[in-house]
Amino acid sequence: MTFIPVFIIGLGLLALVYDSLGKLQALKELQLNTYKIKNISQLILDLQQERGLSSGFLGSGGKKFTAQVKEMRRKVDSDCTKISFDSNLTVIRHKIDALSISTIDAFSSYTGIVKNMQEYYLKTSMNIDDAYLVKQFQIYINLSYMQEALGRVRGSFNGVFTRRKGLDRDLLYNAFHSKGMYDSSQDRFLATSSQQYINALQTIASSPEYGYIKHIVDKYTSLQFGNPTEDPQKWFNTATHIINQIANIETSHIEMIDTYIRHKTHTIRMQIISQISFFLLMLFFSSRLSYKLRNAILRNIALLQQYKDAVDRSSIVSKTTKSGRITYANDKFCAISGYTRDKLVGKAHNIIRHPDMPKEAFKDMWDTILDKRPWTGIVKNKKKYGDFYIVEATINPILNHKGEIEEFIAIRNDVTEIIALQEDLEHTQEELIVKMGIITEKRSRETASHVKRVARYSQLLARLYGLKDDEIKNLTDASPMHDIGKVGIPDEILTKPAKLTPDEWAIMQTHTSMGYDLFKDSDKPLFRAAAIITHEHHEKYDGSGYPRGLKGEEIHIYGRITAIADVFDALGSGRYYKEAWSDQEIFALLKEERGKHFDPKLIDIFFEHLDEFLEIRNVFCSSV
Ligand code: C2E
Ligand code: SIN
Ligand code: SIN
Ligand code: SIN
Ligand code: SIN
Ligand code: FE
Ligand code: FE
Repeated sequence: MTFIPVFIIGLGLLALVYDSLGKLQALKELQLNTYKIKNISQLILDLQQERGLSSGFLGSGGKKFTAQVKEMRRKVDSDCTKISFDSNLTVIRHKIDALSISTIDAFSSYTGIVKNMQEYYLKTSMNIDDAYLVKQFQIYINLSYMQEALGRVRGSFNGVFTRRKGLDRDLLYNAFHSKGMYDSSQDRFLATSSQQYINALQTIASSPEYGYIKHIVDKYTSLQFGNPTEDPQKWFNTATHIINQIANIETSHIEMIDTYIRHKTHTIRMQIISQISFFLLMLFFSSRLSYKLRNAILRNIALLQQYKDAVDRSSIVSKTTKSGRITYANDKFCAISGYTRDKLVGKAHNIIRHPDMPKEAFKDMWDTILDKRPWTGIVKNKKKYGDFYIVEATINPILNHKGEIEEFIAIRNDVTEIIALQEDLEHTQEELIVKMGIITEKRSRETASHVKRVARYSQLLARLYGLKDDEIKNLTDASPMHDIGKVGIPDEILTKPAKLTPDEWAIMQTHTSMGYDLFKDSDKPLFRAAAIITHEHHEKYDGSGYPRGLKGEEIHIYGRITAIADVFDALGSGRYYKEAWSDQEIFALLKEERGKHFDPKLIDIFFEHLDEFLEIRNVFCSSV
């Protein structure tokens, strides 16, 4: 999943690199073209001179400019070695040498060649997509047109001035036409150019040479007839001087364009290098990441398998679908349930449900695990051949990455034996307690049934009072021990058939603390309850009891309950020191002592449910 964004970014980078490479290629071509343009410009400049000199040569009937024409032809030929171009230059030159072509026709032939070459500039500037460069080429083209226009003016007048007789009107017309062309290309140049070139052009325009040219042009605009008297050599040299200055601007401009292109090429090259570096870096990191991820996944798979094996070795494990159908059962599960794996997989999990298990237990379990919480509980299961086994089970909902329940895994430990042992231990404990109680009662000639009845009365009171199940059980189990402290009371006091003396009474009262001392250090819930009961069963609600004189709710509910159960039963039984009381006398005392000796709430409960207490007494009377 991490690779999708990496892939997309990689593709994007490749597209960028591809685009940059395209730009680089275009710039290379442009640079090549710029180089060609430089050469062509030189050729044009020289051709323009050859044209002007040839006009002078033809105009003078082959008398003037002979040597200059020859020299310029050599120069043009040398320019031509740097570039290839098709032209009928040789044919024109032959005709010129033979004086078999008119000045204007020769002029036009040269002009045609120059025009073809200038078209090359135009083509070059049309394929550029850099707006700045397009503008620079435009400036260059305008300069070049200015130069050409001035060249035509030079050539035309040169033909006019060398003519021995009369005015060459065609050439003169040509000169004025070229002058107009110069003005319009100068306007275009000024409109697009930078201040630097405008200043350079102004310097040229304010020179005496430029003034001379202007003077000649103005003069011949008004001259209609007659022979021109200008010195053709002076004219040609002056015009050439100005044309060369314009050509210089042109040259420095094309150099500037060249530098700009070089700079741009360098920038794009750097871009490509950084794009490729970034791409490689990303490739490196993403492959490292995928390598790490792969290792982490493999490691996790290996660990997971070992965890699974560890759990399988130590516990009874099964997996079920969301609806409770078994998808997996480990060896221990098969061994304990008696089913083969084939018999289990695909079945509903309740194939091993024991009829003893209350339905509510499973409702609670399903409510919990469907709520995506683990459930733990003790479950009684049924083996294939009817026997049972008990497990402590933890059922874990397994959630997928979206947080939905994928399956349940149940991990159980066999606690059948532990539970059996525990139950056995509990029964032994209960039996011992009752027997200990009986020992006490026997010594004080009370009946064995007293302790059992006190337990029953306490249990009933506790339930009616609303104690929790485990509290009721502890109270019920511990209350037979309420008088265990009497074991430490001397026989002559315990069995004295008369009222006790104050000293004897003081000793008698210590049966509470002695009982308490017996249990106080235990942390077993049952013995904690016994400690409370022995200690507090003679406390009175109004604070007048013993040994500590606790009051009201300071007396533990176990103490308050046992007090009523004990007195109710003691009054109805005979003792060494007294006869049994009648029910009327007993009820009168309990009512009298409501809020004094006894908790008023418990007394109310007692009388509300009197039938049930009497019922207990009847059942247990038979064993008196
Ligand atoms: P017990 O015989 O099991 O009596 C338990 C409680 O029942 C007594 O606690 C008392 O609250 C009540 N009770 C029993 N018989 C009578 C009675 O005739 N009249 C009244 N009003 N209440 C009675 P108490 O008083 O704290 O006595 C604790 C234990 O001390 C008795 O247990 C008994 O073993 C002994 N005891 C109390 N008085 C005498 C006595 O006069 N002579 C002898 N020998 N032992 C006595
Ligand atoms: C383990 O760490 O791989 C298992 C050790 C054990 O369960 O005793
Ligand atoms: C069930 O099916 O009873 C609960 C799921 C389990 O035990 O794994
Ligand atoms: C059941 O009997 O449905 C659940 C018992 C268990 O998970 O052990
Ligand atoms: C016991 O719980 O075993 C003692 C009291 C009773 O039989 O309920
Ligand atoms: Fe007592
Ligand atoms: Fe008692």
